[in-house]
Amino acid sequence: MDLLNLPQEMTICEVGPRDGLQSEQKFLTLEQKLKLIEMSIAAGCKVIEVGSFVSPKAIPQMADTYELCKLLPQIEGVEYRGLIFNLKGLKRAEAAGLKKCMLTVSASKGHCLANMNKTPEEAIASFAECVAYANEKGIKLAAAMATSFGCPIDGDVPFAQVVSVATCLRNLGIKELIMADTTGMANPKQVYKYMTEIQKLLPDVTWGLHFHNTRGLGLANVIAGLMTGITRFDASYAGTGGCPFAPGASGNIATEDLLNMANEMGIKTGMDIDKCLALGRLVEEYVGGKRSSSLLRAGKCSDIVKNKK
Ligand code: COA
Ligand code: ZN
Repeated sequence: MDLLNLPQEMTICEVGPRDGLQSEQKFLTLEQKLKLIEMSIAAGCKVIEVGSFVSPKAIPQMADTYELCKLLPQIEGVEYRGLIFNLKGLKRAEAAGLKKCMLTVSASKGHCLANMNKTPEEAIASFAECVAYANEKGIKLAAAMATSFGCPIDGDVPFAQVVSVATCLRNLGIKELIMADTTGMANPKQVYKYMTEIQKLLPDVTWGLHFHNTRGLGLANVIAGLMTGITRFDASYAGTGGCPFAPGASGNIATEDLLNMANEMGIKTGMDIDKCLALGRLVEEYVGGKRSSSLLRAGKCSDIVKNKK
C-alpha cells in the first residue's frame, strides 16, 4: 500500500503553447509553434492547450492561434483545447476547427477585472451564451478558475468564493474545472484542504490543477493534489509561462520536471522524458534563454549515475 495513497496514473496537460508563450518577449513563428506541438505529441502528450482566442491587442503573442489551429495534425486520442473568454473567442475557435475550449474566469475580483475587464459574476453571466453556442455546435467546454488559491491584487481569496464560482460554472453545465494558482500563491496544505472539500461539494465535476512555480512550491502542490485523487495537471515546456495581467507572475511547473517526478514515483503518464527534454531545449532556443526548468539544468538522475534506473 502506497503510504501517500497516490494514484497510479496521471495526465499531464501541456499548456506551453498558450500559458508558456503568452508572455514571452520573443514571438514564435507559426512553424515554430507547430513544431513544438508536434514534439509534444511525439513525446506522448495527449492534452494540449494550443493557444488562446483573445484580443490581439491584449496578448499579441496569441494573435495567430486561428492560423495555428488550421495546421494542427488531427490525431486520434490527442485533445487540443483553446483558451477563451467570450463568445467571440469561441466562434473563432470553432471556425478554426477546435472541438474543445476552456473558458476562463478568475475567482478573485481584482484579477478578473485586470485580466478580462469584468467581475467574476459578470463573466459567468456572459458565459451562458457560450454554453448555448458550444452545445449547438458540439464543442466540449471546460473552465479554468484563475487565482483560486490567492490573488496578487486582492490577496486571500476566501474558499467560499472559489466554491461559489465553481458552483456557478457547474450549474451552467460545465463539468470539467481547473483550479489555477496563477501566481504561485498556493501551498500544499491549502491545496489538500481545498481539493478534498471541493470534490465533496461538487462530486460530478472532473477536476484539474494548474500550478505556477513562482515560489518553488509547484511540485509540492502537485503531490498534495495527487493525495486528494486529482490526476490531471497542467504544465508548460521548459517552465515557461505567466499571466501578463498578474503582478509577479512567473513560469508554470515545467512539463519535464513534473514528468520526472511522476517517473521517479512510478506514476504512469504515457510520456517519454528524453523527448520532453529535447522539446524543452528547443523551447529555450526559440524563446532565447533559459527558463525555470530544473531538469533541463540537472538532467535525469540516470544520466549522472549508472546504477539508477
Ligand atoms: N478575440 C479577438 N478580439 C477580441 C475578442 C476575442 N475573443 N474579444 C474581444 N476582442 C476585441 C474586440 O473586438 C475589441 O476590439 P477593438 O478595440 O479593436 O474594437 C476589443 O477586444 C475590446 O472588446 P470588448 O468586447 O470591449 O472586450 P473587453 O475590452 O472587455 O476585453 C477580453 C475582453 C477578455 C477579450 C480582453 O480583455 C482580452 O482579450 N484579455 C486577454 C486575457 C488573457 O488572455 N489573459 C491571459 C490568460 S489568463
Ligand atoms: Zn497559468
